[in-house]
Amino acid sequence: MGNSGFLATLLLPTFLCVHLLFGGSVDGLGVNWGTMATHKLPPETVIQMLKDNGITKVKLFDADSKTMDALAGSDLVVMVAIPNDQLLAMNSYGRAKEWVKKNITTYNFKGGVNIKYVAVGNEPFLTSYNGSFINTTFPALQNIQNALNDAGVGDTIKATVPLNADVYNSPQNNPVPSAGRFRTDISGPMSQIVNFLANNSSPFTVNIYPFLSLYGNDDFPFNYAFFDGGNPIVDNGIQYANVFDANFDTLVSALKAVGHGDMPIIIGEVGWPTDGDKNANMANAQRFYNGLLPRLAANTGTPLRPGYIEVYLFGLIDEDAKSIAPGNFERHWGIFRYDGQPKFPLDLSGQNQNKFLTGAKDVKYLPQQWCMFNPNAKDVSKLADNINYACTFADCTALGFGSSCNSLDANGNASYAFNMYYQVQNQKDMACNFQGISGEAGNKSPASYHCWFFLNSQRPCMSRLSPDSLEERELVILSGIECRMDEQRPNCNHLSSSDHNLNRHEKE
Ligand SMILES: *[C@@H]1O[C@H](CO)[C@@H](O)[C@H](O)[C@H]1NC(C)=O
Ligand SMILES: *[C@@H]1O[C@H](CO)[C@@H](O)[C@H](O)[C@H]1NC(C)=O
Ligand SMILES: *[C@@H]1O[C@H](CO)[C@@H](O)[C@H](O)[C@H]1NC(C)=O
Ligand SMILES: *[C@@H]1O[C@H](CO)[C@@H](O)[C@H](O)[C@H]1NC(C)=O
Ligand SMILES: *[C@@H]1O[C@H](CO)[C@@H](O)[C@H](O)[C@H]1NC(C)=O
Repeated sequence: MGNSGFLATLLLPTFLCVHLLFGGSVDGLGVNWGTMATHKLPPETVIQMLKDNGITKVKLFDADSKTMDALAGSDLVVMVAIPNDQLLAMNSYGRAKEWVKKNITTYNFKGGVNIKYVAVGNEPFLTSYNGSFINTTFPALQNIQNALNDAGVGDTIKATVPLNADVYNSPQNNPVPSAGRFRTDISGPMSQIVNFLANNSSPFTVNIYPFLSLYGNDDFPFNYAFFDGGNPIVDNGIQYANVFDANFDTLVSALKAVGHGDMPIIIGEVGWPTDGDKNANMANAQRFYNGLLPRLAANTGTPLRPGYIEVYLFGLIDEDAKSIAPGNFERHWGIFRYDGQPKFPLDLSGQNQNKFLTGAKDVKYLPQQWCMFNPNAKDVSKLADNINYACTFADCTALGFGSSCNSLDANGNASYAFNMYYQVQNQKDMACNFQGISGEAGNKSPASYHCWFFLNSQRPCMSRLSPDSLEERELVILSGIECRMDEQRPNCNHLSSSDHNLNRHEKE
């Protein structure tokens, strides 16, 4: 342990040097590519985006054939997945073999897809699932790995189960990492899973979210969620100054307690959302990544596991159709917005250079038309119902408490909701008619909308900055107009927050 720490320190300058020369990202950095969006970017566009940013690994949530076909020949290292609702089916070995044949072996040829892992389920033991997947996860894992082994690819392709960090904990009367154990209600399936992973030299996969430690727990020490200055807790002489390390080492201790203290651990998801909660914003996300990425680049590891950690950031692109059962922030985890444009400066090489990632190219946008609430409507008795309707089928999470558009007034809220619905429905005329209440679709652009246009281009485009603003959300919808991001930006950068939080639709 002492040795590897020493080596890591020695190697650091070389690492920095390599990155300076080639740009790119932390060695072996991966991202999660979720696709719960009303307007998905084409897989080819996303793959180009990954390459342009030096990302070499990608984790999927299924094995969609269009995505897999697009990944063929790309050299990206891929983790494909079996969703929770397929776990029961995979309890049949025949079915598991079929899945492996169709979704793995098909792509196993020269110039095919470089599959390294199969994620069996996604956080199946979350307490909010009430134990629904407790009995089906382990048999599914077993069948899939055995089917991989039977197909002759088990040496290079490993099945694993991405688990939520709540599968382990420390007792309340001794809340230190070294006391970590798997949750008692699932200790049976957990030891089966861990033993099986060990037998197959497969890694343990865990999702760790310091943001969730803060969310819903006002007593949680705020700075401890980041990497730059929490009050350390001390455990057997080891200081833990951030919850990420403490959480990771709680898992290391839990694994040790079941006899597998050396099992490789992959971070299946880690990241910070940028909207939908008072702690979900660009500044906090940037602070979190600015702490995380340099540590990954330097192979710092954690006190119990110094060295390289395989990490998949969550997530790549915002997903406006994701369930918000866990919270409004669920749709805002992307390091890119819905349209594949970067949200805030993020340096994946871990050097914290204040620069933006490369956005998706040749994104198609809808025409610049908007649907607005008509404040002169005679009968507004059904206004609330119609807003609810619009927000059921479109994403209004930015309106909520603590979110970026929470300060809109009632009319602004209505316009926002109606417009989001209109865009999700691809600007169909019918989609701007809410029982006669609204119905003002148009291309009028009030003065404060000046950042909607990219001035030195014939083609309209949205600004990548003023990221909290209403106009961006309205323009992110794809198809129709071509648009390319440019390095030069008009003076959208310096809008004050008061420019953002007005009820713009009524101005002018
Ligand atoms: C392959 O994966 C896709 C996408 O996840 C799934 O819909 C399909 O059922 C799988 N094929 C088989 C034969 O299981
Ligand atoms: C779990 O149980 C709660 C309370 O009984 C219920 O509201 C929820 O819908 C259940 N969730 C699932 C996934 O079954
Ligand atoms: C899982 O199996 C246990 C033991 O056989 C049983 O008591 C429990 O009801 C099962 N859970 C589910 C969700 O089927
Ligand atoms: C792991 O392998 C050992 C030895 O081959 C075997 O006894 C055990 O049942 C296996 N455990 C699991 C969970 O597959
Ligand atoms: C706008 O909508 C949000 C979210 O529903 C709500 O919290 C806020 O109070 C609304 N504002 C007004 C002025 O009605």
